[in-house]
Amino acid sequence: MLQVSLCYPGVDPAPWRDGLQCLLPEGRVRCWQAGDPLADYGVVWAPPQQFVDEQAGLKAVFNIGAGVDKLMQLRLPAQWKLVRLDDAGMALQMAEYVCHALIRHFRELDTYEQRARQGEWRQQRPRSRADFPVGIMGLGVLGQRVAQAVQGFGFPVLGWSRTPRACPGVQTFAGSQALDDFLAATRMLVCLLPLTPDTRQLLNRRTLSRLRPGAYLVNVARGALLVEQDLLDLLDSGHLAGATLDVFDAEPLAPCHAFWQHPRVQVTPHISAQTLERDSLEQIAGKIRALERGEPVAGVVELTRGY
Ligand code: NAP
Ligand code: GLV
Repeated sequence: MLQVSLCYPGVDPAPWRDGLQCLLPEGRVRCWQAGDPLADYGVVWAPPQQFVDEQAGLKAVFNIGAGVDKLMQLRLPAQWKLVRLDDAGMALQMAEYVCHALIRHFRELDTYEQRARQGEWRQQRPRSRADFPVGIMGLGVLGQRVAQAVQGFGFPVLGWSRTPRACPGVQTFAGSQALDDFLAATRMLVCLLPLTPDTRQLLNRRTLSRLRPGAYLVNVARGALLVEQDLLDLLDSGHLAGATLDVFDAEPLAPCHAFWQHPRVQVTPHISAQTLERDSLEQIAGKIRALERGEPVAGVVELTRGY
């Protein structure tokens, strides 16, 4: 019988175990405990190194999330087939969140909200969409869906990826040599990159200064991509108009952190695209069956690349 080991520290794993068991009646799903015998498949989020060491011989390991940066901090066996969530209901959520943030900024809705609280009836001059090109860093599963949604609102869209990507209607840039040109053409920057050694602290004083004056940042990827103090300095200098941040270097965000009270920073608690239990488990169960049939699956992580 197929054995599946679930390791999800910090949450009640029972609904995940029972949900996967229902979808995989031909197998046995159990919550991992130290010393368990080797299973066939692992389903994990931020497991301890002991899980990795004891379950090094798994046929595949499914990450309960799109980003695998937490796993990448561990010593992983080179032969591990690590599979991340591939959309699983997150792309649409991400598109909603990013469009909301961009439109809120573009339409100056925060200004109107403040004025409304004071009973002030005053209109701003309309802004031109052509003056607000949206640059999306990362044209993967989430970035491409966001690009499509942003295009639907008529903004010019640019995209930047590691390797060249064709994305209909998007002006694309690839590789570090194209980064400055991409940034110089961007007024609203959306970060949807994975956190890897190449992308850590990529959003810093130098790169953010390349953006068009009055630029706006939406970081929905990982907090460690951004040097937080550099963002604060560029907001204070006026080079950046504001930011919407869903992810932070240290989560939860410390109660005394400057972002909470900053008048031009919007904070949310890492909810831009939440893991949906049913969608995720259906995807994982489907992939376990595909692998058992010897078929390839999408979302396999290249361990040497880090995503
Ligand atoms: P993905 O499909 O793997 O796409 C990653 C994209 O980033 C690809 O286009 C890739 O380029 C590009 N990239 C990677 N390294 C790069 C580099 N050094 N320079 C330029 N581009 C680079 O990932 P995804 O599913 O879209 O997810 C992206 C990230 O979103 C996740 O890793 C996770 O951290 C984050 N996320 C956040 C939340 C949230 O709630 N806040 C939810 C889900 C995911 P290539 O196309 O050339 O490979
Ligand atoms: C959430 O942040 C994820 O990586 O799925």
